[in-house]
Amino acid sequence: MAKTDFDFEMRIDRRDTSSIKWDWDRKLTGRDNLLPFWVADMDFRSAEPVMEALQARLDHGIFGYTARPSSLDDALMSWFSRRHGWVINSESILEAPGIVPFIHMAVRELTEPGESVVIQEPVYYPFRLALERNRRRVAANPLDVDSMGRWSMNPAQLEMELDGSGAKLLILCSPHNPVGRVWRRDELLTLADICRERGVTVISDEIHADLVHSPHRFVPWLSLPKDRLPPSIALVSATKSFNLPGLTTAYAVVDNPELRQRISGMLEALGMGLGSSSPLSYTAAEAAWTRGEAWLEALLGVLSENDALLRDLLAQRLPEITVAPLEGTYLEWLNMAALGMTLDKVWERLLDAGIWLSKGSQFGAGGKDYLRMNIAAPASQLEEGLEKMTAALTS
Ligand SMILES: Cc1ncc(COP(=O)(O)O)c(C=O)c1O
Repeated sequence: MAKTDFDFEMRIDRRDTSSIKWDWDRKLTGRDNLLPFWVADMDFRSAEPVMEALQARLDHGIFGYTARPSSLDDALMSWFSRRHGWVINSESILEAPGIVPFIHMAVRELTEPGESVVIQEPVYYPFRLALERNRRRVAANPLDVDSMGRWSMNPAQLEMELDGSGAKLLILCSPHNPVGRVWRRDELLTLADICRERGVTVISDEIHADLVHSPHRFVPWLSLPKDRLPPSIALVSATKSFNLPGLTTAYAVVDNPELRQRISGMLEALGMGLGSSSPLSYTAAEAAWTRGEAWLEALLGVLSENDALLRDLLAQRLPEITVAPLEGTYLEWLNMAALGMTLDKVWERLLDAGIWLSKGSQFGAGGKDYLRMNIAAPASQLEEGLEKMTAALTS
């Protein structure tokens, strides 16, 4: 199906829906009516098959205690095998209440207060928060960036960090929010070897797995050869790809039997042995993974067009801003250093012009010159945002 079979142009008013992205401007910035490009949810209606399945479930009218159906696990396994060549065993699938809550819980289960955990900043800031809030030490292995604005992991530095800190857990973001990298197989194998040799467990957050732009290919962590992998947990969800994050549901795939037993014991101890999602979440995820593929393909086309639109406009009007290559995600990573203003000043100016982006410094020290911009919006909305940005930064 062509992308024109779906409506990615319709602008839907999301104000007064308790949306964090649209309704928290006064609370977080002191301004009203900002055009938001910050939180990572999309301003597109979810896929029609998902809407139809949800409507049918709503029409049923009874929302009793509901177990995760085996058909949902079948849908998950089929999706990842079909789209990413990753064969998942059904017994490896555990249900999580959401990826962020799961990471908090797993950090508490797998490490003790005061112990170090490695994250590679700039990275999705709830990773750092999960450690700090649970009194774990952040062992930073900052990413490197080259002259083209392309980011990479630093294996030699990682070895030193692991050996120095004694960390036994690493949280990987794959694909990587906010720098837009889709890690190649050789990069992941290097990481796997370093972690396996040191007995470091890896949590691979793969929520952005489907949001990968051609010619790049997502390589699932658990699809690497078994003998190269340390004990690992891969976290997946349909919520990011199909714009369902408010219907929180996620899955932890754990092949290693001892680790799986430990994690399922943890979930039981937290009262989640019978699952933690709602019937609507199950229905939406299953519909997405069984009947959402055409919509997702169309979405990827729209995101590529939006990426091109942003690059063209910035090249013409604000050539000082450089944009990291977008291999995956819908989050652009904009380097503002050449504007010659502090990041706070740039951010404030944009707010004054009515547009709200994420400050890169939130994602760790390496982000201090950057803004993150979510381009998953109708093109007209993105253009309006870029007009505001031009006005703010050229005046
Ligand atoms: C890397 C990453 N992990 C997790 C999440 C959120 O996951 P959840 O809504 O399941 O807690 C996001 C949302 O932006 C994300 O970018």
